[in-house]
Amino acid sequence: MKIKKLSRYWLLAASAGFILGTAQAENLSDSLQIKVLSAACANCHGTDGNQGGAVPVIAGRPAGVLESQLLAFKRGEDPKATVMPRHAAGYTDDELAALANYFSKLGR
Ligand code: HEC
Repeated sequence: MKIKKLSRYWLLAASAGFILGTAQAENLSDSLQIKVLSAACANCHGTDGNQGGAVPVIAGRPAGVLESQLLAFKRGEDPKATVMPRHAAGYTDDELAALANYFSKLGR
């Protein structure tokens, strides 16, 4: 009896988690969420992706190019990279796609 009740709660909790997870993925490109994610890039690339200097400018570049660079960093496929593999490793592929999309839309 007690166990049955508990497992019902567990199911409820699991489906709530699923719904929340789905909502999160959908909100990824939502302006506040992407600003939070992209804040981690601002130290080096500047708040608008235009820092320049030793760090490559990422603003206004095609989203597909940025995304494949980020995925290559994450998978350790860019032998010249220094810090980016460690950064890219911390994000899901969907988050990297959303970041690529975000920076592609910023002006140079
Ligand atoms: C600690 C400084 C630092 C942070 C933080 C950082 N980057 Fe980078 N980024 C670099 C450097 C340096 C490079 C050149 C590649 C390398 O040495 O790893 C680079 C390269 C890139 C490139 C490839 C650009 C090109 O033309 O080669 C992209 C895209 C990129 N970063 C996106 C991001 C995103 C998105 C974030 C936030 C999730 C981020 N970076 C956070 C320093 C940083």
